[in-house]
Amino acid sequence: MKYFVVTYGCQMNVHESEKIAGILEKMGYECGQSREEADIIVFNTCAIREGAEDRVLGNVGALKKQKKRNKNLIIVVCGCMTQKEITAKKLMSTFPFVDIVIGTFNISSLPDLINNVKNGRKLELWEEGGIDETLPYKRTSGENAWVNIMQGCNNFCTYCIVPYVRGREKSRSEEAILREIEEIVREGKYKKITLLGQNVNSYGKDLMPQVSFAKLLKDIAAIQGDFEVGFMTSHPKDLTDELIDVIASEPKIERNIHLPAQSGDNRILKLMNRRYTREHYLDIIRKIRNKIPKVRITSDFIVGFPTETEEEFLRTLELVREVRYDSIFAFMYSPREGTVASKMEGQISDEVKHDRVNRLLKLEKQIQKEDNKS
Ligand code: SAH
Ligand code: SF4
Ligand code: F3S
Repeated sequence: MKYFVVTYGCQMNVHESEKIAGILEKMGYECGQSREEADIIVFNTCAIREGAEDRVLGNVGALKKQKKRNKNLIIVVCGCMTQKEITAKKLMSTFPFVDIVIGTFNISSLPDLINNVKNGRKLELWEEGGIDETLPYKRTSGENAWVNIMQGCNNFCTYCIVPYVRGREKSRSEEAILREIEEIVREGKYKKITLLGQNVNSYGKDLMPQVSFAKLLKDIAAIQGDFEVGFMTSHPKDLTDELIDVIASEPKIERNIHLPAQSGDNRILKLMNRRYTREHYLDIIRKIRNKIPKVRITSDFIVGFPTETEEEFLRTLELVREVRYDSIFAFMYSPREGTVASKMEGQISDEVKHDRVNRLLKLEKQIQKEDNKS
């Protein structure tokens, strides 16, 4: 029996697919090379932008024929998109041939659900469940090993669906993380360890006693062995001097900081509920560059947030010109149902969003060209 997992979205999802693969292998399934030869196909979905959801729907729809040919094929849709009850229900009614629809909280129930389907039951499940520390991972990212340090997000940036589909911030214990990393290092197959969290800088605030992200990094760097440790994503509002000092002083920590700014304009940042100003952001960048030579800094930007004016967009371009990032991701704002920004007046037309995203990317290319030359 073979399985095939299709992953959409961020590194968190890539890593969760490694957990799904681990669970399926423990059940006796083998990794298949393609959808066509699979007995069970899992779509691990993303809800961050409309485009991400559309791709999932298209690909699930395309399986109808395969299911007709092979009645025993089991189709599972899970992840952020189906954590939303409305979307899960809609998916079940549009594609009745899908066997299991679950959210982000119920991956550990997968074996029971699959056995139930084999006994002729269809299933949907998305209520909040626990996180099972004992589930196996099948690491699939070559020399890089992902390590989740926390789940969820408390920030509620007004455009973002993540807090709704991943729940509140929940840090793993430092002990569990260190044990996992020691095991990875002992295996000797991985040169790089990447710590994952939606907002790694708030790691440990919910633990008793509290542990700072800087302390966690320091303790990880103290583990004997030949490896490099990186992390994503940092939120500017909680990036501490202590953290900058730890990165500067520990050679095992990667000199690579992804620090999403989202916008260069203070009114828009406030509407986004990012809780920092352009000035504070630039201050952090300055500190990082002073203390960590040769650091790579990257960022994400959203253009066409509701009510964003041309002048405000120009402030974003200015910020990019000022920081001279090593690279950036630029996204057109995509309204997500249930978020605060989706209900704001002054939604921007697609035409304007396209124009702004193109200008932002053009500027990035120009800066990279100049930097490469120098
Ligand atoms: N936790 C990370 C980001 C996770 S989502 C952080 O806070 O930085 C990755 C990126 O997707 C975000 O940085 C943002 O730029 C983009 N994004 C999130 N929601 C979006 C939306 N509704 N429309 C367009 N881009 C969005
Ligand atoms: Fe979304 Fe903001 Fe949380 Fe990042 S910090 S996941 S953008 S709500
Ligand atoms: Fe997408 Fe969920 Fe990640 S919405 S970006 S897969 S946390």
